[in-house]
Order: sequence, then C-alpha cells, then structure tokens
Amino acid sequence: MVVCICNAMTDKDIRAAIAGGADRPKDVYCACGKSAQCGCCTGTILSMIRDESAKAA
Ligand code: FES
Repeated sequence: MVVCICNAMTDKDIRAAIAGGADRPKDVYCACGKSAQCGCCTGTILSMIRDESAKAA
C-alpha cells in the first residue's frame, strides 16, 4: 500500500526503514532516499514508528 504519494513510498518501504533504525519520519524519508514534500503522510509514518516500537518492546 502506498503511504507517501509524493515519494511513492509503500508501507513495506517504511517498515524496512524502521527495522533499519529510523525512529523519526525524517529518518524514514532519508533511509528511503527521499525527503518530505507535502507532509501529509508524516502522521501515518509516525504511527507506524510507534506501532513497530510497541511490537519490539
Ligand atoms: S504524501 Fe508523503 S510527503 Fe506528500
């Protein structure tokens, strides 16, 4: 599923970035070789970071 339309980043891309240590939306964009554009996806990415952190705890 595409989460970031501006950068064509999928949930799979984002989860891989989080698994690789990205713990802020900015780090997720960077890990994917992208940067924030409109910012509409930032809240979703933040939720995904929190979900993955909760799973890891
Ligand atoms: S939807 Fe992600 S920056 Fe626009």
